[in-house]
Amino acid sequence: MEASNTPSPADFVTTSYEAKKEDVHRVLLLYSGGLDTSVMLHWIQEQYGAEVYALCVNLGQPKEDFAVIEGKAMDLGAQACDVVDAREEFAQEYVLPAIKANALYGGGYPLFTALGRPLIAKLAVDYARKYECDTIAHGCTGKGNDQVRIEATVATLAPELKVIAPVRNWQMGREEEIEYCRQHGIPVAGGTEAAPYSIDDNMWGRSSEGRSIEDLAAAPDPDVFQLVTRPELAPDDPEEIVIGFDAGKPVSIDGETLGLVELLERLTEIGCKHGVGIVDHIEDRIVGLKVRDIYEVPAATIVLTAHKELEKLVCTSHQNLFKPQLDSQWAFLAYAGLWWEPLRGDLDSYMESVNEQVTGTIALKLYKGNATVIRRQSPNAVYDQDLAGFSESGGLFSQTASPGFIELWSLQSRMAYQVRSRKNR
Ligand code: ARG
Repeated sequence: MEASNTPSPADFVTTSYEAKKEDVHRVLLLYSGGLDTSVMLHWIQEQYGAEVYALCVNLGQPKEDFAVIEGKAMDLGAQACDVVDAREEFAQEYVLPAIKANALYGGGYPLFTALGRPLIAKLAVDYARKYECDTIAHGCTGKGNDQVRIEATVATLAPELKVIAPVRNWQMGREEEIEYCRQHGIPVAGGTEAAPYSIDDNMWGRSSEGRSIEDLAAAPDPDVFQLVTRPELAPDDPEEIVIGFDAGKPVSIDGETLGLVELLERLTEIGCKHGVGIVDHIEDRIVGLKVRDIYEVPAATIVLTAHKELEKLVCTSHQNLFKPQLDSQWAFLAYAGLWWEPLRGDLDSYMESVNEQVTGTIALKLYKGNATVIRRQSPNAVYDQDLAGFSESGGLFSQTASPGFIELWSLQSRMAYQVRSRKNR
């Protein structure tokens, strides 16, 4: 028997892409294996009488057992469950452009979730078309950025498809969801314990939100850190690593050439060991709310530190002043769910152009939470002592010309100073 208090689908919609109840016959569900999407898998079949096709995307989330997730989806009545290994595409097409743009939102968030959502949603569109679904379902709440990123992507790439976001409407909390599972024989892992943090992770980082993290007056509970060793527990001996870049792309560690996915996995491991990449961040969400996140981003911290340093060495002062403005615009678009906005393509062209020069190596020392640059080398460094004439051997630089430069460089400031002092007399 159906419980009388089971929430039912919303019966009116306000946008072009939301599904009305009668639109929904075959659903592509973005499935993680967690509580929300497991309840959804059952609830969609029950409430819409629809077939559900589950899709689970591997973006390199550590310690995930995809076979278990697939089995769970099939047990819950999915017509099919596809696990897509999108690690290579994610690394090359999403993370690499972010590296070239030194992408950090709000000065601290390397955007791993924000970069993953448009790819996950794009794959949802591909699989919805493959299975001839009419609707895509996801498990985002109505409070976060992820709903924006996923729905903006679906509405952009597939105007013929509709979206449902049951968690946003059904107003079941964790307790009610667990009760729903109990009534419908859905297995719940750790159901009696306190609600877990809200976690999202992939090869570029991991976030934790909610629970004790919401208390701004409290330092993060040590149980938040499931990835990075806390710096105070990290080894007493520092470790040096050398990252090699080719045209902005990290290509080697200590001289060993590696594919991007493997390189990021290795940097995650070594960064975790040394406590590198813990970020306690207050963030302005697109939907207006502020949120506190604890990020564990070892690979991103190491790569972005090294990339930024090498870029600074090969660029002119004018480029170094200008690029951060475009970098932050790039990060904002990625954060704000506008991945498919043409401006990002425009910005990428600029990033590509600058990054042509970003070749060389950066050595870092990892020690108790810090990743510090200690050596730099590049054939493109705008740092040629002979060329600039430091050796007085007739290079491009003449020390005797400096006074003339200073006379002109300071001219307007000196004039203004005199005018103002005259007025003040
Ligand atoms: N605040 C970050 C962002 O908006 C992380 C969100 C993590 N998502 C989650 N479902 N826990 O990108």
